[in-house]
Amino acid sequence: MDNGKQNNFRPRYRARIKATGSFTPPDVLTNADLERMVDTSDEWITTRTGIKERRIASKEMSGVDMSVKAVEIALSDAGWAPEDVQLLIVGTVTPDYRLPSNSCVIQERMGLVNAGTMDIAAACAGFIHGLAIASAFIESGQLERIVVVGVEKLSSITNYKDRGTCILFGDGAGATAVERTEEDRGVLASFLKSDGRLGKLLWIPVGGTVAPYQEAMRNGGINNGEDCLAMNGSEVFKHAVRQMGDAALNVIKQANMTTEDINLVVPHQANIRIIEAVTKRLGVPDDRVFINIEKYGNTSSASVPLALDEARRSGRIKDGDNVLMIAFGGGLTWAAALVNW
Ligand SMILES: CC(C)(COP(=O)(O)OP(=O)(O)OC[C@H]1O[C@@H](n2cnc3c(N)ncnc32)[C@H](O)[C@@H]1OP(=O)(O)O)[C@@H](O)C(=O)NCCC(=O)NCCS
Repeated sequence: MDNGKQNNFRPRYRARIKATGSFTPPDVLTNADLERMVDTSDEWITTRTGIKERRIASKEMSGVDMSVKAVEIALSDAGWAPEDVQLLIVGTVTPDYRLPSNSCVIQERMGLVNAGTMDIAAACAGFIHGLAIASAFIESGQLERIVVVGVEKLSSITNYKDRGTCILFGDGAGATAVERTEEDRGVLASFLKSDGRLGKLLWIPVGGTVAPYQEAMRNGGINNGEDCLAMNGSEVFKHAVRQMGDAALNVIKQANMTTEDINLVVPHQANIRIIEAVTKRLGVPDDRVFINIEKYGNTSSASVPLALDEARRSGRIKDGDNVLMIAFGGGLTWAAALVNW
C-alpha cells in the first residue's frame, strides 16, 4: 500500500489469492419486474446502467448464509480445513446484526476456531480494503492463511419506491483464500483512499446513533425510506470515474508496469458507463475488462470477489496474469489492487 510514491520495496513474502468462491441467491428481479414497481423501463435501465437483472435474497436468507456458501467453496478449492484459517476479514455494510459482526457469526457457523475476525465498512470498496489488509499481514510475516469475503444483502436497505436507486442493487457474496508465498507473485500493489467530506452523496440517514430507528418511529415513522440508501447518482458517477482511474494508475505505477501489462481488469460493477469511462481513460481494450453487471447489478462489497470468481472459473484469469481490481463506493471510498495470479 503506497499513497502516491513508486514502491520499490520487495517484501520477502507476498499474499497470493489461492482460491475463490461465490454465491448468489436464486431469486431474480428483472427490469420487467421493476417496470411494474416504479416508473421506469427496461430500455432506460439497460442503456443507463447495463443492468438486466439482479439476485435478491429471500427474507430467510441472510448475508452470513450467503457468505458461508461462498467461503465453503473457496476453502474446498484451496484445500484448507476450517481450522487452517488465521484471519477472516469481511467487507459489508449490511451485516446480519449490529453486534456481533458478520465475521464473528461466520466464524462460529464454519468452525474457524483459530481465526481472528474483523468487518470492514468501506461499502463497494470493502473487499479490496480487506485484501490490502490481508496482504499487509502476510507481507509482514505475521500470518499465512487469510480468508477475505465481500457480502451484501442490499435489498434490505433499498427503497423500492425510489427509481433512482432501486434499479441498481442486488445481493450476493464472494470469497477468496489468501495464502503466503515466497514467490514474486500475488498482491503486488494496493491503494486505499477516502473522502469523508462527500459522505452524504451516498448514505443511509436513519438507523445509526445520530438518528436512531426507534426515535424516527416515535416521530411519525419512516415514510420516505429514510432507513434506506439515498444517493446523488450523477455526482457519485463523476467522482467514481475520476477516482477509480487515479487508483488504477497508482497501483500500475507502484508495480512498475504500464496498462499494456494488465491482462484483465476486474472493476466494481456499479454502472457499465462508469466501467467504460474508466477503462477508456486507462486505454484498456474491452476484451480485457470483465463485466457481469447485466446479471447481478451492483452488489457493493460482493461485486469484485463475485466477478473475480466468475472470471477465474470461466478461464478469463490464468496463472501468471496481471489482474487489476478497482472499486468505488459510499464513504466515499475507493481502492485498487494489482495481483499477479
Ligand atoms: C443512478 C444513475 C444510473 C442515474 O443515471 P444518470 O444518467 O446520472 O441520470 P440522472 O440521475 O441524471 O437522471 C436523468 C433523468 O432520468 C430520470 N431517472 C432516474 N432514474 C430513472 C429510472 N430508473 N427510470 C427512468 N428514469 C429515471 C431522472 O429522474 C432524471 O429525469 P429528469 O431529467 O426529468 O429529472 C447514475 O447516476 C449512476 O449510476 N450513478 C452512480 C451510481 C453508483 O455507482 N452508486 C453506487 C456507488 S458504487
